[in-house]
Amino acid sequence: MAGATAAPASCSIAMSQMLVTAKTNATPGAPRSVDDVPELLAAVARDQCLSRVRAADRPIGAARYGHMFPSLEPLVTDPGLLMRAGDNGGVCAADPSVYECPDDDATEAAGWPFFGQLVAHDITADRSPVAGGVDPEALRNARAPRLNLEMIYADGPIGAPYLFDLDDPAKFLLSRDGGDVPRNRQGVALIGDPRNDVHLFSLALHVALLHAHNGLVDLLRSNDVPEPDVFDRARITLIWHYQWIVVHEFLPRLVGGALVDEMLAEGGRFFTPHPAGAYIPLEFADAAYRYGHGQIRHAYRLVAGGPQFPLFPDLAGFGPPAPDRRLDLSQIFDVPGHPPAQRAKRLDGRLPASLIGLPERVTGAVSAAAHRSLASRDLLRGGSTGLPSGEAVAELIGVAPLTPDELGQAWPGGTPLWLYILKEAECRGAGDRLGPVGGRIVAEVLIGLLRADPASYLSLDPGWSPSLPAAGATFGISDLITLVG
Ligand code: HEM
Repeated sequence: MAGATAAPASCSIAMSQMLVTAKTNATPGAPRSVDDVPELLAAVARDQCLSRVRAADRPIGAARYGHMFPSLEPLVTDPGLLMRAGDNGGVCAADPSVYECPDDDATEAAGWPFFGQLVAHDITADRSPVAGGVDPEALRNARAPRLNLEMIYADGPIGAPYLFDLDDPAKFLLSRDGGDVPRNRQGVALIGDPRNDVHLFSLALHVALLHAHNGLVDLLRSNDVPEPDVFDRARITLIWHYQWIVVHEFLPRLVGGALVDEMLAEGGRFFTPHPAGAYIPLEFADAAYRYGHGQIRHAYRLVAGGPQFPLFPDLAGFGPPAPDRRLDLSQIFDVPGHPPAQRAKRLDGRLPASLIGLPERVTGAVSAAAHRSLASRDLLRGGSTGLPSGEAVAELIGVAPLTPDELGQAWPGGTPLWLYILKEAECRGAGDRLGPVGGRIVAEVLIGLLRADPASYLSLDPGWSPSLPAAGATFGISDLITLVG
């Protein structure tokens, strides 16, 4: 059964072939070829084959969370205040009258936060109740803290055979028309992370990644790559191109190219995990990386000239998408030869009605009405995981905290980190980019995780550059979309 049964040894061969063909303008001292990286390759073979051994290496939920700024005191805020701030009419709820206002448009295309959401699903899954009550030390992450597309590959053809095509197990199974993931008879998606089925946009990106993998399988076969190597070569190629997009396109747009360059050259100041002890900082999972909630629009157009649909409830997932609700990805990403895509919402500390009143199929049954609001949940999480205030983090990293005028509201003892980061993006990032606190946390964590991952391109061959065709100077998301048609 093709590459599906590949043993660890054949993974090493696959990776070595890839490294040998990779461009080798690596930085001095960095591993340049397979001969330089025997230990890394051993780690890749053991950990990346997605075979039986993976579960033994990392039992589900074994990864931990931690604090990035352990010296800072937790900000203690009355949960009632947090819930009111996030609920309808609260400071974090957008005024519905601005939904159609062009001033609400960010510079960046509407698809970027959805891409960011998939990255979140790839690296962090805290399944503890939002009401809190769990010691942050006891929290477990159901994802490995690696940008390795675990949310599509899961345990691979051996551990998760229902994801793959029985007639060609090197390929993912899709719906009959190729526009959806496979589902059981109750409509539940058979995918690596159920959260990717939460709405039409994350589903469409997930499906695009499955098509990209299958397309790579065809490409490798047409290049006479030996069949036992095909699955792993396709998987690693897709993962490295995805990592490349994160480093060279997604992050520069979100935090600015200068900060990315600094991270690549010097590493992080506050987050430099060792490969064996990589973890997700709670300041990232429960504050900074939830910036994306503030970039979601209330309504979207799916096809050129088509009507706009509210994200929720109209485009909610967890079931097959209606035939008239298929998304043309060029409506959310700028693709050469197509008109400009819709834009993301400007970051301003407020979430649209779709996210202030999440449907029950997204939240499950809730014990308090405010738990339907994603803003309330974001604020409550930060409280229950003991995050410091935004002002405290700003002072620690050496930047001037936001002024009361910039914040617009005084909070007792300091501003919750999540909200601070959104306001910082509004005031210091023109509503398009994260400011110095949010940007530093996000950039340090994503690049730190890539550096700590022994199988990432940054670890194995930092001079690598994409091998797939690009319309512009370098491979990007629009090339991935074009690749899958
Ligand atoms: C588009 C609609 C989205 C919906 C409906 C959504 C919904 C949710 C929900 C319900 C949670 C769990 C909240 C809690 O209980 O604490 C969550 C967590 C989270 N979201 Fe979103 N989200 C969306 C978009 C995004 C985007 C665009 C990003 C980032 C770019 C993002 C990043 C995160 C992160 C980092 C977490 C914490 C995950 C964890 O550690 O388990 N989300 N989201």
